[in-house]
Order: sequence, then structure tokens, then C-alpha cells
Amino acid sequence: MGNSTAGGDSVTDAKGMADAEIARDFFGVQLHYAGVLSARAGIPLGEAIIFHTNFHRLFAYGNLGKMAPDPAFVALVSDAVALAPEARLDHLVAAYAERPADPWPADRFPFGNHFACEAPNDAGIVRIHFRNRFNTDEHGPLHASNIAQRRADLTAMFDFVASRWPDAKAINGASWLYNLEAYRRLFPADYSASRVALTGPRPIHGLSTWGQFLDFRGRAKVDVVEAFVRGLDALDVKQPWLSFPYQVLATTAPLASFRREFGV
Ligand SMILES: CC(C)(COP(=O)(O)OP(=O)(O)OC[C@H]1O[C@@H](n2cnc3c(N)ncnc32)[C@H](O)[C@@H]1OP(=O)(O)O)[C@@H](O)C(=O)NCCC(=O)NCCS
Repeated sequence: MGNSTAGGDSVTDAKGMADAEIARDFFGVQLHYAGVLSARAGIPLGEAIIFHTNFHRLFAYGNLGKMAPDPAFVALVSDAVALAPEARLDHLVAAYAERPADPWPADRFPFGNHFACEAPNDAGIVRIHFRNRFNTDEHGPLHASNIAQRRADLTAMFDFVASRWPDAKAINGASWLYNLEAYRRLFPADYSASRVALTGPRPIHGLSTWGQFLDFRGRAKVDVVEAFVRGLDALDVKQPWLSFPYQVLATTAPLASFRREFGV
């Protein structure tokens, strides 16, 4: 993905094989998980790959929480499943090289390189998001040396929220990232302290879960992957998220907390 900004949707800005290779091990762990889930839950492998990995979003086909799978992606998965198991990862990496970067969804307002918010929903709640474009910087976006820049990004975002939607009631988040002090330290204390693990049946196709396997350069964290793969022996197909090292934590605090914290 290089240092490219949010990509378009034509193959003219395809990422290329070198950038796609960076994602190989991250793809590998997702394919492995899909295989285990398929066998244990008795669902077709193609279904597990489509609905229970981050591939649909990574390949810039959109959020499966809001749409049916794109036919082109379904065809790609069908081709991969028809191959011998050892050829599937190569097939996905090669196909990924031909795809553009996945952009922020159109309904999000980005601030800096990492944060975005949505407009308030009917209950006045503003959802916030974090992403990372794989990069070759010396330090990652959550590194201590980048706290001031991240806080500046958040100040700009909450200044925008407070001016544009002054009646917004609360700010909500949901991510594995709230397990990390390195992420929580960026936010108001009451927001970070509110974190509770998400429960309930849900497919696992977002970076809110899968992002924990990545480092800021876009490579899989080998130790995290290995521990996860070992733990899959105990996969509970009714609660598969419990097999992931970090759970998705939901957070919330009133807009007033963010006004105070960021002086907006
Ligand atoms: C978030 C992300 C950039 C972290 O990558 P990284 O290589 O660990 O890089 P950073 O340098 O930014 O973060 C380092 C900091 O996070 C902490 N950290 C990162 N992963 C951690 C982990 N698994 N456990 C504990 N701490 C962790 C480090 O201790 C460090 O904190 P410190 O500076 O206080 O020592 C990377 O996982 C990523 O890009 N994920 C995909 C995006 C994503 O998950 N989005 C969520 C969407 S909801």
C-alpha cells in the first residue's frame, strides 16, 4: 500500500505485487482461520472466507456489515477455493496486487492520516474510527513520539464535531485498540475507562478485530499470529471472537468530555 492516500476504485491505481506481498502473512492467518472455522462449524470454506475475514474490505469491495458481497469478490473466492490449498494464498496475494487501496467509506470525515468520524446517528451518537496506512516511518502512529501529533488530529476532529453538531450527545468507539494504553492515552479518561467487551453473535470481518495482527508497516506480528493459531485448537464456533487475543471493546463518553479534554 506504500504511502498512498485513500485510493480510488479503478485498477489504474492498483497497489502492485511488492506492496501486496507485505500483506502475505496477514492474509495467511485469515485463510487459516477460515479453514478452521469452516471445518468446525460445518460451513463451506468459501463462505468462511467471504464473511469471516477482512478480505472483502481489504480488497476495497466495501463493508459487509452494510452490503451483500460484491460478485467480483465472490468469484475471486470461488476461484481460490477451487485451487489446491497451498496455492490459495498466492492467488489472493496476486489478486490483491491488482486492487486499489481501500478508501475511507464515503460517509466518514477524515482528520489527519488516521482518524475519522461519522455524522451523529438518530440518537445523537458520533462514531469515531482509526486506520493506518502502512508506512516506512521510523515510528508507528501510536508510538510515544507521535502522541502530540495524534492529539492535534483529535483536537481538529472534535473541534469539527463540536461546531458542526453542537447537540451531539456522545462519542462512541469499538475496537481492539482500546485494549492498548498507547491508544487510550490519547482520549479523555472517562471515555477510556468506559470500555466493555462486545458480546453477542457477530461475524468477524472488521479491522476492529483483525487489525491486532498488524504492525504499522503492514506486516503481521509473528508472535501474535502464532499464539492465535495455537489457540484455535479451542475454537468455540458459537463464540469465535473469544479465540482472538484482544476483544473488541466498546467505549462511550459525552461530547462534553471531549470539549473539555481538547479545549474545543
Ligand atoms: C495500530 C497499529 C498501527 C499498531 O502498530 P505498531 O506496529 O504496534 O505501532 P505503533 O508504534 O503505532 O504503536 C506502538 C505502541 O502501541 C503499543 N502496542 C502495540 N501493539 C500492542 C500490543 N499488541 N499489546 C500491547 N501494546 C501494544 C506499544 O507498546 C507502543 O506503545 P508505547 O509507545 O507506549 O511503547 C497497527 O496494529 C495497525 O496498523 N493496525 C491496523 C489498524 C487497526 O487496527 N484499526 C482498527 C480499526 S477499528
